[in-house]
Amino acid sequence: MEYILDTADLEAIKHCNEFYPLAGVTTNPSIIAKENTDFWTLVKNIRDIIGPDKLFFAQTVQKTADKMVEEACLLNEKTGGKFCVKIPISEEGLKATKRLKQLGIKVLVTAIFTPAQALIAARAGADYVAPYVNRLDNIIGDGCYVVSEIVKQFNIYNLPCKVLAASFKNAELVHKCAVAGCHCVTVTDDILKAVLSHPMTDAAVEGFEKDWESVYGDKTILDF
Ligand code: E4P
Repeated sequence: MEYILDTADLEAIKHCNEFYPLAGVTTNPSIIAKENTDFWTLVKNIRDIIGPDKLFFAQTVQKTADKMVEEACLLNEKTGGKFCVKIPISEEGLKATKRLKQLGIKVLVTAIFTPAQALIAARAGADYVAPYVNRLDNIIGDGCYVVSEIVKQFNIYNLPCKVLAASFKNAELVHKCAVAGCHCVTVTDDILKAVLSHPMTDAAVEGFEKDWESVYGDKTILDF
């Protein structure tokens, strides 16, 4: 399973790109609006940090298929490097997805809440679908179960579409998606940190340091 960062915060992107095995960065209109800055400058800054080989996802803000396609082409051209346009699931979105596939532009169909939505998006040619895990849990749904059903469907029908699960509240939901066979998750920097943190790890490392220092003081292996 690949890890993608769900933010447009440049400091968070810089940090996570340096320390974590990131496959890319996802944004959506809410995430971009939170930064409240010039759109293209922000996109360029993100691309400069992650480089051309990591995927950058930006969402169209258009409502009709023709305009979605126009905006996706502009985003693809101006973003440079590996790019994938995000399109919310709808009739217009499916029409735009089919057209963009012909044009060779990668598409993620987003705002997915049911396996049926995911299947039809994959049939339209989506490269990725993004089910919203925590938002489903918030309405007493089961986001991880929906993710597992989508993975199952894509396997049954041998569809190349990848499941990129989004909307996470904690590291446990990320783990549940991983064991369900989800291909990628997009998470905030806080969730990434939570994935690798464990109090037993801290205690183990503290023990190693204490035992070493009791014999060798502040000498390290480099000093021998
Ligand atoms: C990503 O593409 C989604 O837009 C995002 O993960 C939604 O997360 P939220 O439910 O925390 O807003």
